[in-house]
Amino acid sequence: MYEQLMQPLDLGPTRVRNRIFNPPHGTSLSHHGVVTDDLVAYHLSRARGGTGLIILEGMTVHPSYGFEDSFLYAGSDRIIEGLNRLARSCRDEGTPVFGQLFHAGRGVRLSHDGSRPLSYSASDVPDERYRVVPVSMPNDMVWEFIESYVDAAGRLADADLDGVEILASMGYLIPQFLNPETNRRSDEFGGDAEGRMRFLREIISRSRARIGSGKTLGVRVTLDEKTDRGLPAEAMIEICQSLEADGHVDYFSVISGSSSAPDGWIHVFPPMSVAPGFVADDARRLKQAVSKPVLVAGRINQPQLAAEVLESGKADMVGLARALIADPEFVNKMASGRAEDIRACVGCNQACVGHRLAHFPVSCIQNPVSGRERTMGELKPAQSSKKILVIGGGPAGMKAAVVAAERGHQVELYENSTRLGGQVNLAEALPGRAEFGGVTTNLVHELDLAGVKVTLNSQIDESSLRDIEPDHVIIAIGARTRLPEVEVDGVEMVDSWSVIRDDVKPGNSVVIADWSCDWAGLGVAEKLARAGHYVRLLSGGCVAGESIQAIVRDHWIGVLHQLGVEMIPYARFYGGVDGSAFFQHMTGGEAMVFEDVDTIVSCYASQANHDCDWIAEIDGLNVSLIGDAISPRTVEEAVLEGLRLGRSI
Ligand SMILES: Cc1cc2nc3c(=O)[nH]c(=O)nc-3n(C[C@H](O)[C@H](O)[C@H](O)COP(=O)(O)O)c2cc1C
Ligand code: SF4
Repeated sequence: MYEQLMQPLDLGPTRVRNRIFNPPHGTSLSHHGVVTDDLVAYHLSRARGGTGLIILEGMTVHPSYGFEDSFLYAGSDRIIEGLNRLARSCRDEGTPVFGQLFHAGRGVRLSHDGSRPLSYSASDVPDERYRVVPVSMPNDMVWEFIESYVDAAGRLADADLDGVEILASMGYLIPQFLNPETNRRSDEFGGDAEGRMRFLREIISRSRARIGSGKTLGVRVTLDEKTDRGLPAEAMIEICQSLEADGHVDYFSVISGSSSAPDGWIHVFPPMSVAPGFVADDARRLKQAVSKPVLVAGRINQPQLAAEVLESGKADMVGLARALIADPEFVNKMASGRAEDIRACVGCNQACVGHRLAHFPVSCIQNPVSGRERTMGELKPAQSSKKILVIGGGPAGMKAAVVAAERGHQVELYENSTRLGGQVNLAEALPGRAEFGGVTTNLVHELDLAGVKVTLNSQIDESSLRDIEPDHVIIAIGARTRLPEVEVDGVEMVDSWSVIRDDVKPGNSVVIADWSCDWAGLGVAEKLARAGHYVRLLSGGCVAGESIQAIVRDHWIGVLHQLGVEMIPYARFYGGVDGSAFFQHMTGGEAMVFEDVDTIVSCYASQANHDCDWIAEIDGLNVSLIGDAISPRTVEEAVLEGLRLGRSI
């Protein structure tokens, strides 16, 4: 079925065994700029999973961007040994490895000591996203930067990587030279399209001379930066044609978005609200204009979609960054007729992009082994098979049940409602969030594969506990909603869960008292605004959605703005009387009064469910508590705790 995806391809001198590549993505698994054992283990698991090609994360090339600990730094020979070790490990599994080189230009904003570093660009045009004013590079510095790229490319070749990719996309340094909006130079690196392209062209031709013809050389480009002042697609296509005519480039890789603008960067790490495969048509445009192979990535998370992109001739290779974070075995499963076993990425951006942006190792809410391969990669069979009772069918209980059963335990899971999924069932019911339900779909399938016996609609009591006779009980009964302890009189107050479930019908004018600042407040605001309500979203943080990933939040806030939702930050809820809702400014202390309110929707802290505390008190019974039943957090911690417990019994 996926025959075409499994066909080999030549990218210059490198033959790849199939059409799936692991696109470059910062992992924060490096340390002091060099490869760690954790990073080797991370990529090795993708190579073992059958991935055709691995392109390592963007490595910085120049001391002006050698600050951030979690970036690989190709500006020093210290990088060579680790890269070589990594490449050899993956090649032994049949997967070649390329390395990507980049510099953020005016996007550089961090230093070792917390002071703001000088950042350098083609001109001193301010950056909108990071609010950085760069230094316009003197001419000799531009040449110095070119040499840094070339030296770095040489180090990658010396490390015996199979290829080098130059990142010329996403609004970083090279596009800052290419784009007349950010390049106002009058020397040989500016003036006209030819001059603006010189920086890239020199990097490419000199890198080719340095690495020789035995290594692959590719370029990653953006056709649509998804922001007003981005370089137009036509200009980028012409640049690619010129590069091809120069004869040094073996492939082009296409991505979308720009990291230098809030609207553009959403598309670099597209959340679930962005359509699957949304970059494929850009790849097709480029493919029609050049003859070298074209690679594409962007919200491709299912083999069917990957096959469609390839078979329709839009690209020659398909990149899966987050799909392989969620399931490193993607290719092996696809190739062996087990495509339905793939744990599909749901585009939540929580533990992958979210961790990366906070400088923590990338992981996945569904697959916490990602980024922890060295310590958690291996699942050892249980020493003796025990009878395990899991109470609660949310993500924590399901994951614990799956892992314990995979290790050879006999596992039964009891859920007192009619559906598995827990709070995922709420999150997926919000507008544009249906894909989040994939977390449940994937776990339910894993329960099935692992042979866990599931009983729905059933409460454990003393007599059923006696009948089951478990060796170990896992309590994973999650959290329940609660309302804030404030006075409310003469105005309706409801909790967000009942609004999401459609258990209540709020009045026309709604105030959302959003203590949580997460998906619930944003989602309820969108749901009610779409249904025609007048919505005011009062957040107990400095911005609506402060607790969730910036990319998801930024996109959502744009949607709420379009829908006319009024968003007011720093608001501490104080109560409601006779059609008014009272808040206090969280730092200024002044009263904030909102009138003509029909319904206050409370998005307040939920509380751990203690219904099974009696089980923990039974003498001689092994009992463990996981997930929100200890303290309410998110799916990520629930699944992680389920995994840890399932491994340890
Ligand atoms: C955590 C993370 C870090 C990334 N870092 C890079 C990078 O260093 N260089 C790059 O070109 N793209 C980077 N990307 C973008 C990916 O290569 C890819 O284009 C993007 O994630 C869309 O593909 P996907 O939907 O398969 O995840 C990163 C993506 C993620 C998720
Ligand atoms: S954390 Fe979410 S977006 Fe990231 S890989 Fe996992 S499912 Fe995909």
